[in-house]
Amino acid sequence: MLEGKKILLGVTGSIAAYKSLLLVRQLVRAGAEVRVVMTQAAKDFVTPLSLSTLSRKPVLSELFQEDSWANHVMLGRWADLMLIAPLSCNTLGKMAGGLCDNLLLATYLSATCPVAVAPAMDEDMWKHPSTGNNLQKLISFGNRVIPVQKGELASGLYGEGRMAEPEAIVEYIDKWFFSRKDLSGKKALITAGPTYEAIDPVRFIGNHSSGKMGAAIAGELAARGAEVELIMGPSQLQVEIPHVQVTRVVSTRQMYEAALQKFPQADITVMSAAVADYRPVETSGDKIKKTDATLTLQLTRTEDILRTLGGQKKKGQLLVGFALENKQEREYALEKLRSKNADIMVLNSLQDEGAGFGHDTNKITIFEKDGTEQTYQTKPKQQVAQDIVDRIVNMLYA
Ligand code: CTP
Repeated sequence: MLEGKKILLGVTGSIAAYKSLLLVRQLVRAGAEVRVVMTQAAKDFVTPLSLSTLSRKPVLSELFQEDSWANHVMLGRWADLMLIAPLSCNTLGKMAGGLCDNLLLATYLSATCPVAVAPAMDEDMWKHPSTGNNLQKLISFGNRVIPVQKGELASGLYGEGRMAEPEAIVEYIDKWFFSRKDLSGKKALITAGPTYEAIDPVRFIGNHSSGKMGAAIAGELAARGAEVELIMGPSQLQVEIPHVQVTRVVSTRQMYEAALQKFPQADITVMSAAVADYRPVETSGDKIKKTDATLTLQLTRTEDILRTLGGQKKKGQLLVGFALENKQEREYALEKLRSKNADIMVLNSLQDEGAGFGHDTNKITIFEKDGTEQTYQTKPKQQVAQDIVDRIVNMLYA
């Protein structure tokens, strides 16, 4: 299944490095050509000799060795995929921050191929907010994070953070990098993040949307072969994903205009943006001064982008909307599906823990226009994106 694929395996300092031996063996057995780059710290856990024996190639770890220089640029170009397994907390932080103090990091920064990482750490480290932020950053670079597993950890404790088993890693990369190009030739349009409506030059009406869900969907569609246009509101998220063209907007009007312009070419449109429903009737050119005890703002409805696109939808175009609700969730989601002429409506309930704005996880129910309805567990947003795209593909080729 991985016949002839060139895989550059990065091994970092973690107890789980012992699994990299099995991983190399399984990759080679599946037909891949494997080259290993390891960090200095990884050598405390597994020897270069074992890795070079199994990969049948010299293992690299130094940027400079006596009078020779390891060509990290060529290594990154040689590979069809760079797989970093195990990914330690330290290397994760360096990757997110763009640091380059060893060959593995230099190769990562210069790699032109897709990158997948399999983190491995103790549960407390895994749950630390900086780990979440760093992983989110990697996802925004277009890297794929192979989910960790629950189980016995190096600390002796039981919990989340265990590196995926070698078989699961091989299966994952085969599925996501080499087999599933089921959207090649398709064009996708995504809206993501919040929109801001100016009150005056310094204030606005906005919301807490981070844009993470939309960026994850864009990444997923691109990984499966689609050319993606992402229209992103003012979120902090930096999105640099291969095959994802990003247009930055601020207001609903700007998002509406950009979406309308790109919609006719799109086979798949996903409106995950949390669009402001109202804007001030007037925007003050000057900063509003604190003169009166009360201040009344008159608001007017913004354009409903999804509804407009639903009205313009042609045969063969697939339209997906999101509904964020905190009561009568099912009823409202179904009403939005129907009234906005969408094909799929993804419901987030504010009642669910770990769902909605700001979280790295989400819990969704997917409603389809033929009455199909499916509720999923709380999962990382990248996996939620996979579930959504699976339903899209299923409907597209039904
Ligand atoms: N949406 C949109 N343009 C708007 C408002 C919403 O395109 N002006 C889209 C969202 O991107 C989402 C869907 O419509 O895909 C539903 O958004 P939501 O805010 O839940 O629904 P609203 O129609 O705004 O209804 P309400 O806020 O009253 O629940």
